[in-house]
Amino acid sequence: MNAQYSPPINPLLEPVLLSEGILCRNRIALAAMTHYSAPEDGSVAEPELAYIRRRSAGPGIVFTACVAVSPCGKAYDGEPAAHDDRFLPGLSVWAKVIKDQGARAILQLHHGGGVCPPRLVPYGDVVSPSGIATPDRSPVTPRALSDTEIEVIIEAFGSATTRAVKAGFDGVEIHGGYGYLPQQFLSPYTNRRQDRWGGTREKRHAFPLALLVAARNAAKESADRPFSVGYRFTPEEALDPGLTMDDALAFVDALVDQGSDYIDVLVNDFRSPPRRGSMQKDRSRLCHIAQTVAKRVPVLAGGAIYTEADAHEALAMGVDFVTMARALIIDPEWVQKVATGQSGSIRSLLAPDEREALTMPAPFWNVIWKAPGWFPGV
Ligand SMILES: Cc1cc2nc3c(=O)[nH]c(=O)nc-3n(C[C@H](O)[C@H](O)[C@H](O)COP(=O)(O)O)c2cc1C
Repeated sequence: MNAQYSPPINPLLEPVLLSEGILCRNRIALAAMTHYSAPEDGSVAEPELAYIRRRSAGPGIVFTACVAVSPCGKAYDGEPAAHDDRFLPGLSVWAKVIKDQGARAILQLHHGGGVCPPRLVPYGDVVSPSGIATPDRSPVTPRALSDTEIEVIIEAFGSATTRAVKAGFDGVEIHGGYGYLPQQFLSPYTNRRQDRWGGTREKRHAFPLALLVAARNAAKESADRPFSVGYRFTPEEALDPGLTMDDALAFVDALVDQGSDYIDVLVNDFRSPPRRGSMQKDRSRLCHIAQTVAKRVPVLAGGAIYTEADAHEALAMGVDFVTMARALIIDPEWVQKVATGQSGSIRSLLAPDEREALTMPAPFWNVIWKAPGWFPGV
């Protein structure tokens, strides 16, 4: 009798759990990407929907653009919002469009803090933990938040989570990376407070962890279905005194202990080694983080993954899901090509006349083409 032949399963395409009850059809995620295209009134316009619909047909998870949880947290023109119930209809359409394509839909919650442009926040009042300027990100010196204001922002993350539940999302992700408010609290450069929110590494964890708890509690109270609450962060900073990989590994443990359903690591290159810290520098940051998490929760990570081989290399570092942003702009059918053995035909460059062919909203396309070197081909 012939033994039955079963072809090897491509590990990228295996169904896998993001958290309890949230099964994803594969290990590929469309990373969160600001699209600069939301109308002022917070509704969701067709160009954004068409853009995300097409890019939701392959990945297991689709993260939305970051959305402002508070008017004082808006950091981009065309940033969507989730700080009021009036945004619910738009958020609901967004979730449905993604889920109808078979992907899990995760809303990314955001507060820009001290790097928000004054023209985007009420009264130009830019706020941060300690009123410390970060000249590489913004020419503005922000104002230090009061204890009460901090509590209000934490509640806003909870309320936005409740809206995400009502809108039909499968989860929320706290955007704790790229120098935004949660990272401003984590970093010894921007957090010089000497109260319960700063002064030691543990106290600098207090605000990010409070956001996680607020989101988890809101989900527990409002969701009668599985719902994921995760955290995205940037492991290191170039600033001095800034975050180091030692800080990152301590924070990862704190996130897992506090019940983050998954850890999403934001780095621009998945192969990048630690910049500072006491660990070996000949292994990538992702290897160190995956080793510290030790499969207690899934780790999501990416950064400069363009080819199928890149994605396999990232998985081999111990990552559970690969996150991809620019590659899925350049080739919206990247996943389908891998799934059908056509990874050789994956597109690798953008060209200026392709906006409509790639289903890209005009404001998004224009931002990309004003930033030479950001995307391959630009
Ligand atoms: C246009 C654009 C917008 C982005 N917006 C966000 C965002 O809203 N939230 C976030 O966490 N990361 C954001 N990122 C970072 C990406 O999610 C990703 O981590 C980064 O681009 C590296 O991955 P890649 O090499 O696959 O592009 C953005 C990246 C791009 C290119």
